[in-house]
Amino acid sequence: MRIVLRIGGSVVASPLNPDLIRQYVHVLKMLKKQGHEIAVVVGGGSLARELIKVAKELKLDEADQDELAIAISRVLAQLLLKKLGRLCGKSVATTVGEATEWLHKGKIVVMGGLRPGMTTDAVAALVAERVKADLLVKGTDQEGVYDKDPRSHPDAVKLDSLKFTDLQGVLAEDQHKAGLHQILDPEAVKVLKRQRIKVVVVNGFKPENVLAVVRGERVGTLVS
Ligand code: UTP
Repeated sequence: MRIVLRIGGSVVASPLNPDLIRQYVHVLKMLKKQGHEIAVVVGGGSLARELIKVAKELKLDEADQDELAIAISRVLAQLLLKKLGRLCGKSVATTVGEATEWLHKGKIVVMGGLRPGMTTDAVAALVAERVKADLLVKGTDQEGVYDKDPRSHPDAVKLDSLKFTDLQGVLAEDQHKAGLHQILDPEAVKVLKRQRIKVVVVNGFKPENVLAVVRGERVGTLVS
C-alpha cells in the first residue's frame, strides 16, 4: 500500500517527545518491512506556534510567520530522517517533486511544510494526490473526528466514520491563518475529496494505531 502519514506537531513536538518519535521510527520501519511505501509529513507543533507568536509581536507578516513555522517543521522532520537513516532519502523533501522521486527510489519520504499559506495537512494531501496514495493517516491529539470541537464542547461525540462533505461542515475555519489548529485543514479536505483518497484520523499519541489502520482495523475516524 502507498501511505501518507501526517504526524501532528501537537503530538510529537508539544513538547518534543523523543520517546514518541522513537515509537514512530519503529512503526515506520515495520511498515517498510511489510512492503508499504510511505511518505511522512511532520508539523511544527508548539515550537512553531511559539515562533509565530514572536513573529507576530515583531509585526512580521503572515507569510514570514508561516516561513518560520515551516523551518521548524523541517527541523522536526530532520530528526525523524536522521533516526531512520538509510531507509530515507538524503534530506527532508522540500517539494512534492522531490518527495515523489524519493518514494520511487524506494525510500521513506520525510517532510515538513512546503510553502506559506497552507498547513502540513495540505502538504500531506498534495503528496497523496501526486503519488496516488491509497491511504492518508493523520495522527492527531484527539481520538478522531468529533461532531463538534471537543476542546470547547465536553459533550462532543467521536464519529467512527463520515463523508468528506460532512467533515467540511464540522470545521470552523476555511481561511488560512498561521498556526491555526484544526482536525483536518479544509484545503487538504478539498484535495482528498476530489482524489477520493481515504483518510483515517487517529490518536497520534498511540503510534500503534497507524499499524492497526493499515491492518484494516477500525480505529479513529474514517473519512471517505
Ligand atoms: P501545521 O499546523 O500543519 O502543523 O503547521 P502541526 O503543528 O502539526 O499542527 P497540528 O498538530 O495538526 O495542530 C504549523 C504552521 O506552519 C505553517 C502554518 O502557519 C501552520 O499553521 N505552514 C505549515 C505553512 O505555512 N506551510 C506549510 O506548508 C506548512
